Amino acid sequence: MSRLIEPSQGPLSGTVSVPGDKSVSHRAVLFAPLAEGPCRIRGWLEAEDTGRSLAAVEALGAEVRREDGDLVVGPGRFPGVGAAPAGSTEVVDIDCGNSGTTARLMMGLLAGRRVRARLDGDASLRSRPMARVVDPLRSMGARIVYEGSEGQLPLRIEGAPLVGIDYRLPVASAQLKSALLLAGLSAKGETRVAGGGLSRDHTEKLLESMGVRHATGPDGFGVSPGEPLAAFDLTVPGDPSSAAFLLTAAALLPGSGITVAGMMLNPTRTHYLHVMGDMEVDLRERPDPGRAVEPIGDVLVRHGALRAVSIRDPWIPALIDELPLLAVLAARAEGTTRIRDARELRHKECDRIAATAAGLRTLGVNVTEREDGMDIIGAPEGFPATGPAEIATEGDHRIAMAFAVAGLASRGGVRLDDAACVAVSFPDFFATLDELRHGGAAT
Ligand code: S3P
Repeated sequence: MSRLIEPSQGPLSGTVSVPGDKSVSHRAVLFAPLAEGPCRIRGWLEAEDTGRSLAAVEALGAEVRREDGDLVVGPGRFPGVGAAPAGSTEVVDIDCGNSGTTARLMMGLLAGRRVRARLDGDASLRSRPMARVVDPLRSMGARIVYEGSEGQLPLRIEGAPLVGIDYRLPVASAQLKSALLLAGLSAKGETRVAGGGLSRDHTEKLLESMGVRHATGPDGFGVSPGEPLAAFDLTVPGDPSSAAFLLTAAALLPGSGITVAGMMLNPTRTHYLHVMGDMEVDLRERPDPGRAVEPIGDVLVRHGALRAVSIRDPWIPALIDELPLLAVLAARAEGTTRIRDARELRHKECDRIAATAAGLRTLGVNVTEREDGMDIIGAPEGFPATGPAEIATEGDHRIAMAFAVAGLASRGGVRLDDAACVAVSFPDFFATLDELRHGGAAT
């Protein structure tokens, strides 16, 4: 479904909240079946991606019910620790859709449990690298067989006895780190994972809150087995990656001033806000003093002039999902923005370096694509294109939303070839933008 985004006729204003964080929502439903009783999840993100994780744990026997708008997930008949039962040929089919988090965390979760499963996904997920998870899991004893191309979905996984490992991540990936820690919960001895850098730490935080025996230190995070784990009652805070689109739109549209209330302020997720600050965006964080598994607060942004930045490691993992959006913001800043060390972007829902650079070019922006990033020469006076820019989203929700924001701040609008893909993480994205166009709603 294509969609025309017209240039915004006025500023954005008001206060809105954003849907629950995607990463935390995945983890909440994937970890809940390991608890000794039902876990209550408030503010869970109802979206296509998280729906894949929920459907998967249900297919594996977890008990799922809705109660007063909350999600309640209990262990039910979720497979326990051990090898897949001999003599049974039952295979649970798990369709991970577009969700890399479902696929990778699920592998770690199932590798040491009494079950056989087949994991598959859509064309995008089938093209993404899985060997980075499969190889270390195999070294723990996991039995995983690729059914198609080597290193990619679909694959079969058959529960096997695991032994812990001491592993240094070759890429600072939270999905890989999480998969290995989950496998560690059903392995003999300790599993220690180092090298995650500034990758998101929601797995560590949620496992800690469930009472997992763990060790944190300069050589990474380690877990030791021991189930059942403590049940939790968790409120999922607003997703900072979803909030980023709204905050960026406000930064770009003259006269705008908006507040996103109740968003997660975990430092492994908020580096984009700091980069906006470095670009001289008028931005204020108002942290909530309450104590929760994840820190939360409100963020206020006003429109103003922008200055170019340079961004590279070690910061890349802490704003990995915001980089296409940063490129859009930088395209309206004074000076040349340089993004480096971001080759992981080529392995996301699409090749986000290529898709972002192509979209910016369509808007007339001077951008040079590099193997690990891009250089963007900002046009503070406005994107050069005067007619509607035709944007190929590649079915990637973050590319679609980043260029929807660009469209609002353009002269001739933007036509997204596929706007439906926003449902992967932010189904009400366009409605929330409309709300802000009409002054927002008190939350
Ligand atoms: C995620 C981790 C990131 C991120 C993805 C969600 C997670 O991927 O890009 O959208 O929930 O752990 P990597 O950890 O593979 O970089």
